[in-house]
Amino acid sequence: MLANEKAVNQGVAPVTYGQGDRPPRGDYSAARADYTCEQNWSAYTAAEHDLYRRLYERQAAQLNGLACDEFIEAVQHLGKPERIPRFDELSEALYRHTRWEVVAVPGLIPEEAFFGLLAQRRFPVTGWLRKPEEFDYIVEPDVFHDLFGHVPLLFNPVFADYMQAYGAGGLKASRLDACELLARLYWYTVEFGLIQTPRGVRAYGAGILSSAGELRHSVRSAEPSRVGFDLQRIMRTRYKIDSYQATYFVIESFQQLFEATAPDFTPIYRAVRDLPEIEAGVVLPDERRIAAAD
Ligand SMILES: [Fe+2]
Repeated sequence: MLANEKAVNQGVAPVTYGQGDRPPRGDYSAARADYTCEQNWSAYTAAEHDLYRRLYERQAAQLNGLACDEFIEAVQHLGKPERIPRFDELSEALYRHTRWEVVAVPGLIPEEAFFGLLAQRRFPVTGWLRKPEEFDYIVEPDVFHDLFGHVPLLFNPVFADYMQAYGAGGLKASRLDACELLARLYWYTVEFGLIQTPRGVRAYGAGILSSAGELRHSVRSAEPSRVGFDLQRIMRTRYKIDSYQATYFVIESFQQLFEATAPDFTPIYRAVRDLPEIEAGVVLPDERRIAAAD
């Protein structure tokens, strides 16, 4: 969601990651005005299907004890890992469960387009897959991150409703010039969220679940700070886009997440703007550190 838009003559404007001069990835020339496009499934090569399978199997092998049960149960909906899933087939199954669908996009998309799709219960999934040399780390989200990380929990009814509410809230935040504050909520929940369980903390954030190293780090390492979910605290907290997170926020349940985001954020944005920002990794004096899982 940290995006720079650049003008082009056809399709829609490409979007790049972060504030730097990275060229856009993905073909934006065939995208519709809402940034959706065709998945073009037949264009994936055998080598790409195989790379997807290797990514999938590496992550699936370490889910037990690190990912939350809801994710582990739902990941099977992605189907066999031998092939990159067809978005139309996945959408059919997803719609039956939670009335969500997945739609292809060329890559990163502008905030307004992103929020608009979420508000319509349409999750944008990048069409392209990373290169083999990006097996361990990739800057931009690719089809593996978007599918493996995000789509399973859209089969969970409460989380699915949270995502739609987030999209609707985003459209409103755009009008209130509060997108950066709301982006932090997405970052620390949808991308890098942890959840408390009777057996210790577990991961539910897509950025963690699709990362080879951060899954274990976020749940088991004593190094990062883990604190309880607090909406205003999250909106005040800066985050890192190029390293493991220094702070993770831990929810009690998806219901807690949904309920915390139900109120009108307008007065919350106002309150947050009057308070100092908090650097990633800092634990405030009145906060309780939550322990890593055994
Ligand atoms: Fe993501």
